[in-house]
Amino acid sequence: RTPVVVLISGTGSNLAALLAAAAEEQCTYEVVAVIADREAPGLEHARAAGIPAKVVALRDHPDRAAWDRALTAAVAAHAPQLVVLAGFMKLVGPPLLEAFGGRIINTHPALLPAFPGAHGVRDALAHGVKVTGCSVIEVDAGVDTGRILAQRAVDVLEEDTEEALHERIKAVEQPLLVEVVRRLTAAR
Ligand code: GAR
Repeated sequence: RTPVVVLISGTGSNLAALLAAAAEEQCTYEVVAVIADREAPGLEHARAAGIPAKVVALRDHPDRAAWDRALTAAVAAHAPQLVVLAGFMKLVGPPLLEAFGGRIINTHPALLPAFPGAHGVRDALAHGVKVTGCSVIEVDAGVDTGRILAQRAVDVLEEDTEEALHERIKAVEQPLLVEVVRRLTAAR
């Protein structure tokens, strides 16, 4: 099975979907480690599955460059073929891109190139769009500018809140991310 490292910052519902799919016999990938930039609640999903879970926090490093190097070393220690950003809320720096260029993907809760950045759901709501969704992209040096690998649309409802809309997006985002990770790892 193809080794995959997942990076998270939050609740890890996308991670949980990846782990559930990986538990199926015919799955093409294995999640070999989960790394977070903070004590993310989602790390529990990894610990419960007996998968190495590690925090590499910016505040534990003298500067951003040192953090970037530490993060890259933590990922590289598991020799993944694919690195999946599943709700990882920091931009990855040059060291990770150099080590895993073309093999890092990110999931984003908007239809890129619309509403990139940290508040894709809030920004789409504020703009008044009637349709938004989620995107799985290749990670490059820009903010959510990489090649689009897959997208799904989600209708915005009249009474939507950021939270309600994000929940409906996550419901389609999780299977989409699993599908893309399966596809990328099957081809290797
Ligand atoms: C996901 O919806 C993901 O697209 C988003 O954070 C959420 C994490 O949820 N990522 C971004 O906004 C990146 N800019 P999860 O922790 O439950 O998987």
